[in-house]
Amino acid sequence: MEMTLDIAVETSSTSRIAEVDFNNIQFGRVFSDHQFIVDFDGEHWINPRVVPYGKIAMSPAISAIHYGQSIFEGMKAFKDKEGNPQLFRPLDNWKRLNRSAQRMGMQEIPEEFFMEGLRALLTVDSDWIPTSAGSALYLRPCMFATDDFIGVRPSSTYTFVIFSCPVGAYYSQPLKVKAETHYIRAAEGGTGNAKCAGNYGSVMLPTRIAQEEGFNQVMWLDADKHEMIEETGTTNLFIRIDDTLITPSTSRGTILEGITRDSVLTLAKSWNWKIEIRDIGIHELFEAYRAGTLKEVFAAGTAATIAQIEVIHYEGEEIRLGGLATWEWSHLLKNTLEQIKIGQIADDFDWMTRI
Ligand code: COI
Repeated sequence: MEMTLDIAVETSSTSRIAEVDFNNIQFGRVFSDHQFIVDFDGEHWINPRVVPYGKIAMSPAISAIHYGQSIFEGMKAFKDKEGNPQLFRPLDNWKRLNRSAQRMGMQEIPEEFFMEGLRALLTVDSDWIPTSAGSALYLRPCMFATDDFIGVRPSSTYTFVIFSCPVGAYYSQPLKVKAETHYIRAAEGGTGNAKCAGNYGSVMLPTRIAQEEGFNQVMWLDADKHEMIEETGTTNLFIRIDDTLITPSTSRGTILEGITRDSVLTLAKSWNWKIEIRDIGIHELFEAYRAGTLKEVFAAGTAATIAQIEVIHYEGEEIRLGGLATWEWSHLLKNTLEQIKIGQIADDFDWMTRI
């Protein structure tokens, strides 16, 4: 990556890093010292800058707040064996952010602002990249509409921000999920495959209900028949039946096109595993469970990495994989991905970008 933009850097006078217990971090609660900001003034992206992490002044009339013109990405930085900061598949996050921007009628961000913003932020905050197993510096690029106007129309001005959090595992235990049969997450023609704030806001209530019932997450089913498995509120889903790895197809536009999902599929293909990308119904899952052919179910996402799913609840019935699954494939995928990210094994797919 070559630096071509003129990014102003204002470093914080003191670092908060000494206050952080890197062995014991709650996901998303601890922020590195700086953030990157650039504004779109209606014509140009202007004033790219790194400033101390903190609050940003804004009008209460912005349509990000009222009408949800707000999108984000989740990505991670690691250190390789020599201690050099590196990012996992950053251009894929940039492309997906722009697909989300397009769907939401927002401004797209040019590659150089995204990539050089990351580089500038990681240059000042590289000490915040944790190195213990399973940890990373989670980066949260986000963009929101900033017109001071409450008429309903796409904003002409935007702010793009990148901030970061040192993180460990998002889920520390195998998951218990509830297949949701009342609420829906996404319908065809909607925004299910955009990483927009509304997709997360609309599932807060059903997720809270599921959590009060003892589950970690909701397993979303299709909006029409409540039958086809789609994703969880934070991850894509994989199902191993016998020796076939199945993941729901994203072709209806109701599922986020996960970068970890794609990485799992790429690894699985390279190992000659049998893969099926297709619709899979909740009833097929229960049938495979009853037949003894359901071997593993796991979640895949940037924050969650690979998280095993032990319990699936659907209308009073339960799949309990705890004692049955060997978790062989999910273990291998999780470990391989982790080792590629920290340079312990060859990066055969050119996923890592040095900054
Ligand atoms: C991610 O995995 O990066 C996500 O954005 C999911 C979640 C933390 C909202």
